[in-house]
Amino acid sequence: MRRIMLLVAVYLMVEATQALVLPGWRGSERDSPAASWFSRVRRLPLTTHRVIDPNEDCFLVTSEEGELFFKSPSDEPTVCGIYMIADPDKRIQVIFNYIDVPCSNGGLVAWVDGWELNGQVWPADAWDDDRVVESCDRRPRRKLVSRQNAALVQYRVPARGKGFSLTIRHLRNARPCNLMLFGSEGVYTLRNHGERGNCSVVAVAPAAVRVLDLNVGQTVKTSLLQLETGTIHHCTKRGLGDYVDVGGAAGLDHTKMEVYDSLCGLDSNEGRHAVFVACEDTVVRLVSSGRYQNSVTVAFAPLPLEHIEHADLVCGLNDM
Ligand SMILES: *[C@@H]1O[C@H](CO)[C@@H](O)[C@H](O)[C@H]1NC(C)=O
Repeated sequence: MRRIMLLVAVYLMVEATQALVLPGWRGSERDSPAASWFSRVRRLPLTTHRVIDPNEDCFLVTSEEGELFFKSPSDEPTVCGIYMIADPDKRIQVIFNYIDVPCSNGGLVAWVDGWELNGQVWPADAWDDDRVVESCDRRPRRKLVSRQNAALVQYRVPARGKGFSLTIRHLRNARPCNLMLFGSEGVYTLRNHGERGNCSVVAVAPAAVRVLDLNVGQTVKTSLLQLETGTIHHCTKRGLGDYVDVGGAAGLDHTKMEVYDSLCGLDSNEGRHAVFVACEDTVVRLVSSGRYQNSVTVAFAPLPLEHIEHADLVCGLNDM
């Protein structure tokens, strides 16, 4: 099941990978059709050591820990990526064991604390320049640990026989905020820990989302008396600053998501209806002003094919 969902996710990403270029990069001008990228995608079991096959693994998605080697087969300036994902309560650490990539004709190895596809980044809510570290002929001085459970290494090694080696580790994340799901199933809780900012849980697939527990815009501090308001709908229209957006997006930048409903209130009863989201990505996004202790627990399930037609939200309809 895991493997199937991953393929779905990868399929959705594949179309975008030709633009797999970081800001400032003048990447490969290859005009390979999406289909050929798809044939290059495969899941990589990293037991201990693994050599990246330049013909098969240019677009690589891996959920494993372990050591990877890359040696360039040619002088072509091909841009490739290693998309790393871990369990939602993990961070990703990358240790470069060596980088032997000449800087001269555009060789580059870039660590990205997040994912980048087609010029869109995730998590866009908390993006800053600190998230990208570029190097060529030396290892980065900084420790490379992602803030969430997905990270990316992009590379372009236009020098035959040159390359790099890295080790991927998964570390515990005590306060996960942005979660990328590996598939579209499971129960997840988002919390702001009383802080200002946004957190999200994202499935790179259509999904059915049910809110199991809601406490948003209510709890100022730990008080004994709490009033169940029930679930309040369309909270943004009411001008409230703390809410949960449920919806979807057609790319990695979920600040541009299409919202089906924005919820707030205190409700410990499971939502009666699941929201059916027929979008490339299904997104639940908690927006917090910092004045409340917010939390929301949601259940994700794959959207059955027969429900796609009758989905609550179908992305892209407004563009037509
Ligand atoms: C959180 O999201 C809201 C609404 O989309 C946005 O206005 C705000 O700038 C975001 N806050 C942060 C810290 O990104």
